Amino acid sequence: MQERLQKFLASAGVASRRKAEELIVQGRVKVNQRVVTELGSKVEPGKDLVTVDGKLVSAPESRAYHLLYKPPGCVTTASDPEGRPTAFDYLRGVSARVFPVGRLDWDAEGAVLFTDDGELANRLAHPRYGHRRVYLVKVKGDPPPEALQRMVAGVRLEDGPARALEAAVHEHAEKNVWVRVVVGEGRYHLVKRLCEAVGLQIQRLFRPEFGGVTVEGLRPGQSRPLSAAEVRAMKQSVGLAPGEPSPVSRSLPKAARRHGHGPPAPARPPAPPRGGGGAGEPRPRNAPRGGERPSGRGRGGGRSR
Ligand code: URA
Repeated sequence: MQERLQKFLASAGVASRRKAEELIVQGRVKVNQRVVTELGSKVEPGKDLVTVDGKLVSAPESRAYHLLYKPPGCVTTASDPEGRPTAFDYLRGVSARVFPVGRLDWDAEGAVLFTDDGELANRLAHPRYGHRRVYLVKVKGDPPPEALQRMVAGVRLEDGPARALEAAVHEHAEKNVWVRVVVGEGRYHLVKRLCEAVGLQIQRLFRPEFGGVTVEGLRPGQSRPLSAAEVRAMKQSVGLAPGEPSPVSRSLPKAARRHGHGPPAPARPPAPPRGGGGAGEPRPRNAPRGGERPSGRGRGGGRSR
């Protein structure tokens, strides 16, 4: 069914409807290789080829974007050779063949984006596109300021130098402190290794947001689809949609309290253990290469993702 070009652009997450009209009038939109400046123009999603500034716009319904508040105690992959629960067990009602963008460790919790949009996933995973990953780390005691400074100055890890873009005290809890750590790459166990390298003892690792979308309002184990505006902002932040990326909010949601309600039961029971003890977690079908993958060097420290 045909629809107005500006409506198509808005629901595809390119821009708001008003901004989409501006893009059309400015001659930045092409339909089937031809510049279209008429606001009344119509397109057939999935059939007509629409580009903005030369970038292909996918038909709105062709992509799925869901944010999960991953609870601790599950792996981020589709299946686990050890038969442990996986984050997919919590993705209720998602029929698209989505994959996680990057991973959170087994014991870590917080925002994980699931999508079938390989281009966005690749951009979010690649350090070149400047996607900042924000973590809140609960550490034992009061971290010495020098430790946080060292994390930013850079430390040497077993797979090369690494640094945090930011490391600062975020909030004092009763006996512990939440430290905000921002990194610019998804190297294996990076935040844990940075903290350990400067002598911090980690008690919890929480990712409050991913790509600017926070887990606010979600309980551990719950997920929700992203709005068109959230998808647009995420795409803008990695240069996949026209327009300035919106400034990232400094206010971060808190990690869920550990006592009280646990995460809801997964939608399907965890898979039975598989024999063979394979070499790591299998990648879901469709998953792009270049995601947040282990470095390939064995760590053997008993950690798992
Ligand atoms: N860094 C870690 O150490 N673990 C994660 O899960 C994510 C980043």
